[in-house]
Amino acid sequence: MKILFAASEAHPLIKTGGLGDVAGSLPAALERLHQDVRVILPAYRHILERLPEATVVAEFPVPGSPEPVRLRRATLVKDGVPVYLVDVPALFDRAGGPYSDPQGRDWYDNALRFATFCRAVVRVAANHAGLDWAPDVVHCNDWQTGLVPPLLIREPRRPPMVFTIHNLAYQGVFTRDTFQYLGLPPELWSMYALEFYGGFSFIKGGLVFADRLTTVSPTYAREICTPEFGAGLDGVLRGRADRLEGILNGVDYRVWDPGRDTLIPHRYTAHAMQGKQRDKIALQKRMGLTVEPRVPLFGHIGRMVEQKGVDLILDALPALMTEDLQLAILGNGEARFEAAFRTAAERRPGRLGVHIGYDESLAHLVEAGCDAFLMPSRFEPCGLSQLYSLRYGTIPVVRRTGGLADTVVDADGKSIRSGAATGFVFDEPTPDALASGVRRALERYRRPPAWRNLIGNAMRQDFSWRRSAQAYLALYRRI
Ligand code: ADP
Ligand code: GLC
Repeated sequence: MKILFAASEAHPLIKTGGLGDVAGSLPAALERLHQDVRVILPAYRHILERLPEATVVAEFPVPGSPEPVRLRRATLVKDGVPVYLVDVPALFDRAGGPYSDPQGRDWYDNALRFATFCRAVVRVAANHAGLDWAPDVVHCNDWQTGLVPPLLIREPRRPPMVFTIHNLAYQGVFTRDTFQYLGLPPELWSMYALEFYGGFSFIKGGLVFADRLTTVSPTYAREICTPEFGAGLDGVLRGRADRLEGILNGVDYRVWDPGRDTLIPHRYTAHAMQGKQRDKIALQKRMGLTVEPRVPLFGHIGRMVEQKGVDLILDALPALMTEDLQLAILGNGEARFEAAFRTAAERRPGRLGVHIGYDESLAHLVEAGCDAFLMPSRFEPCGLSQLYSLRYGTIPVVRRTGGLADTVVDADGKSIRSGAATGFVFDEPTPDALASGVRRALERYRRPPAWRNLIGNAMRQDFSWRRSAQAYLALYRRI
């Protein structure tokens, strides 16, 4: 099948979180299943700097765009999946992130930026871009691609559309004035289309008009149909529940495996674990922690936002620090959380290491060097960090929600006996529940044979993309 995969980020060209990992690895997994997949991304400055060879393959006007779109072609990695880059310098050639300026504020013209991107995707999908390639299916991801389905559905000859929700909390909501300014078809201004409580919602376009909806874990697929997790869209989703399914994300083990990770100082496998001890020492040094190989080291990596429960980690610190343990935290996000972690680290030198920022190779070292990994998310569509932790033998301590509930097996009596246990799962989104999850982990840690068993179980888990890619392919074929 010919598959056009539209996303706003894809590793290794551009990444802010798990969407980037997925868009960088699912297309490659589909290619390994002998499919003709092409990714389409905005041509951010950062990408064009990495890919000076990206040649222009088409040029066309797009309504509302300040300049004609130049479509460039390159590959995700050398000899890898082809990627089309939607090049509109006035919108994408800037310093800063894909969604926000260097100060961390959303770009003022995000609606125009991603509407233009969507309109370019529609041109390619409808075979109006002058390429000799017309997709059999279009796969859209998250709100930045939400206008593709409502615009493409108007084309008389169009491929079927899949829309994947990676995070329902990010919806791309703008004003009615913005809707008008973008010159979108007036009939889309309706509560049955893009109107959302008086505002204009990108993601609703995907949810209402795509032929099939998916999200990234079976539990999150059920959760988003409830008011608690539906972020105001649970009604829309319940109405389309027969078109919605959860397909768990996979892991790119070429990038995330301690046996071949090129970003960590010492590689290791389940059968030769010495490297992990050395990575722990390297991480302790890097994070300004006391070098103490026997003290259990807990890690956390993530966007510092409420979703991830970073405030629960902060509030649990007094309790956690009464235990004999160390913490290594890597993340960036809301200024209030960044500041609180910085202050907390100053108060506990040698025991709490904090690195504020985005650092790909440090993320690999945290996964490798820690004994356990904290993920107290309030909600988690899938979560990739805990999957990486499993493979690195870094025992996850997670809240029972979304993809965390689907991928980590709590170490209780039964699962320990059967060899299924892979981590510690707690229920309530509270500092106390998190702290008791950590205490349960510590109890096991103090019994080395029991801890080694757990590590063995964790490292044996297989979340490779193949099965998930097959599920997507089956879905494409059904529609
Ligand atoms: P989400 O997509 O909600 O942020 P995931 O667990 O699915 O959460 O994916 C997060 C990805 O982003 C992982 O690859 C993780 O290593 C990476 N990541 C998050 N924050 C940072 C950071 N500060 N530095 C480096 N990598 C990060
Ligand atoms: C989102 C979710 C995360 C998921 C990722 C990739 O960012 O927050 O849970 O793993 O998308 O699907």
